[in-house]
Amino acid sequence: MERQGQSSPIDLGLRRIAWAGENMPVLSGIRRRWTAERPLAGVRVAACLHVTTETANLVLAIKEGGGEISLCASNPLSTQDDVVAALDQRYGLPTFALRGVDREGYYRHIHAALGVHPHYTLDDGADLVAALHDERRDLLADVRAGTEETTTGVIRLRAMAAAGRLAYPIVAVNDARTKHLFDNRHGTGQSTLDGIMRATNRLVAGSVVVVAGYGWCGKGVAARAAGLGARVIVTEVDPVRALEAVMDGFEVAPMADAAARGDVFVTVTGNRHVIDRPHFAAMKEGAIVANAGHFNVEINLPILRELAGEGREVRPGVEEFRLGSGRRILVLTEGRLVNLAAAEGHPAQVMDLSFANQALVLEWLVRDRPVLEPRVYPVPQAIDEQVAWQKLASMGLGIDRLTPEQEAYRKAWEHGTQ
Ligand code: ADE
Repeated sequence: MERQGQSSPIDLGLRRIAWAGENMPVLSGIRRRWTAERPLAGVRVAACLHVTTETANLVLAIKEGGGEISLCASNPLSTQDDVVAALDQRYGLPTFALRGVDREGYYRHIHAALGVHPHYTLDDGADLVAALHDERRDLLADVRAGTEETTTGVIRLRAMAAAGRLAYPIVAVNDARTKHLFDNRHGTGQSTLDGIMRATNRLVAGSVVVVAGYGWCGKGVAARAAGLGARVIVTEVDPVRALEAVMDGFEVAPMADAAARGDVFVTVTGNRHVIDRPHFAAMKEGAIVANAGHFNVEINLPILRELAGEGREVRPGVEEFRLGSGRRILVLTEGRLVNLAAAEGHPAQVMDLSFANQALVLEWLVRDRPVLEPRVYPVPQAIDEQVAWQKLASMGLGIDRLTPEQEAYRKAWEHGTQ
């Protein structure tokens, strides 16, 4: 047997991309149809996404659909270099990404991807959109519309629109039900625990896992941690979400109290400095701190460095900080997305849903040319449901349909208690 360890990065990338594709039946169906129909002929696309095997399948579908596409990374630590090699060198798809790139290189890559002079942008976190608006306004005249993949990016774009700064319409793929109910919850849930386990090889069962934030991602992380036997404490600022967490069976506490009790901390709030100076000061010896929110701002690492000096890498992706008290705090993957930096991101089966939405929204924007204002728009319900139907079909599952009598019943107000 030829072992993968012996293959070149390009070959490894090709095999892993194919493996992901086999687990993305909805996107693969779109890709086959696009290869025949070429609906994106003449269309230029700049994509800023995590450069993974799943993303490779999306961008290859766009290329095979006739689009001219360039790709850059949406995070400095999420890039899979074998995927870059395969896309760039075997498929001739311009890919600007390098795992572990510094800030300057990261933005240089975004600018390089913008070199395609896009008609459409696909973004994950809105860094490409921000660079386009701030530094390449000359390109805006050609841009027709875009899509945004993640919660944080959608919030950022809504803020841009509210400030009157958004120059073109963007569809919030994140907000499709077939995206956030699956990718954010089951994808982040599984891949975050995967990242923590790969980085630390520690037993989850019996440990106290503090999950900061109980949005769809936090719900997933809490559920998977509990499923592995952790005792989960949820911290929240939203009283309704806190109540949801309680009734889902989790303990809820302020971070100030949870800090002294956690063995593992995971931030998934989308906000900054959720773990801050007083929390570090209260933590147990050897506490593990990880982030699964989009940006590396949730853990106040500058303060930790002030308190503890520079860290020391004790395992790949595990940095040890020693506080004055002698206690150690272990920070995973520099506070960047632990699920993509220490593991491979969400599994292909779930990215199938997210990227089928991306593909079908792009096709809708190109084919139908809907008249849209420079605002953030939801994914059309028909696309959201089409993705669900196709995913169910790929799983060999059927569901019931309303009978005509039931359709009529739903629309009538006259009948009540019988
Ligand atoms: N975001 C989370 N997981 C991902 C993956 N596997 N590919 C692309 N983007 C992701």
